[in-house]
Amino acid sequence: MNFRNLPTPALLVDLDALESNLSRMAAFFRSKPAKLRPHFKNHKVLPLVRKQLEAGAIGMTCATVREAAILVEHNVPSILLANEIMERDKLACLAQWSRRVDIMLAVDSEAGITAAASVAREQGVAPNVVVDVNIGMNRCGVSPGASTVRLVKAAVAAGLRFRGLMGYDGHLQAQAPSPKRDELVRRGSQSLIDSKVLIEKEGIPVEIVSTGGTGTYNVSGDYPGITEIQAGSYLLMDTLYVNRDSPFQPSLSILTTVISKPARDRFVIDCGVKALSSERGLSTVKGIDGLELKALHAEHGLVEAHASQNGLDPGDNIELWVNYSDATVNLHSRMYGVSDGEVKTVFTIEH
Ligand SMILES: Cc1ncc(COP(=O)(O)O)c(C=O)c1O
Repeated sequence: MNFRNLPTPALLVDLDALESNLSRMAAFFRSKPAKLRPHFKNHKVLPLVRKQLEAGAIGMTCATVREAAILVEHNVPSILLANEIMERDKLACLAQWSRRVDIMLAVDSEAGITAAASVAREQGVAPNVVVDVNIGMNRCGVSPGASTVRLVKAAVAAGLRFRGLMGYDGHLQAQAPSPKRDELVRRGSQSLIDSKVLIEKEGIPVEIVSTGGTGTYNVSGDYPGITEIQAGSYLLMDTLYVNRDSPFQPSLSILTTVISKPARDRFVIDCGVKALSSERGLSTVKGIDGLELKALHAEHGLVEAHASQNGLDPGDNIELWVNYSDATVNLHSRMYGVSDGEVKTVFTIEH
């Protein structure tokens, strides 16, 4: 089927760009001590998980217990839940799963350790944890150094199985690469390594040091002692990353239909915030110059046309680039894989 015949708004993925992104990342890690543990939240598609594992990924990263459940159910060999979980029921699920799969939970507080340990005691298992270290993003994470060592000792004393450290440098993903930015990435990685050394001085082995994303994979992925990188966006990519000079190709777009033309220079499309995130800025129009998305309502997109584009009429299609893939994919239940203008495959997005 020609992709233009799909019901709109339709989430499209360019399969050639996707394959190129997959191979580019796999090639980077092929000969490195560090390995890739891609973030599932970006695409939420099981056949893409398979592709990433076949291309050399050692397991997957995820952000929620629901995502972890999907990965467990589909036998992903190693899962890092790179987030803090405090609810008993969710911790109980994680404890159960840890009997049969390699699953690790991030902790960054005594309260988190106590909660995970008390559920684990009830269940008679010792769940795997990584201690989440704040390497400058100022979201979750304990301070590097002495505070990290204290928390690791508390985790071990509580009977949790300590596997290593993670620190996500999300604040640096948002900057285009530059010598100054790369130096900050290296400093973040070094603070994880310094903390590892302090922990090992206490006689506690640190197996994993996990960090990085699509914007920083090549700097932290090359840093001595880093064992894995959590990049997610690299596979589908979005125009946020393209604007940061990423070597990966944008593959995600939304096919929309013009539903109204209230004036010569104004169009309305059938795509609003229920199909496309504008959280980090408005999308641009793919392949047609002179059209500008001005606003997204719930189910409408308002597009302004410059004089040369007045040939569009209600019923015509417009494709928009996806600006923020993480927050757009989850608004859809399907993603249509397109190559040479034809829909070649339909991916189910897991929820
Ligand atoms: C903890 C964590 N690790 C890894 C990633 C993946 O980063 P990216 O999508 O920039 O590759 C994210 C994304 O927000 C994240 O929150």
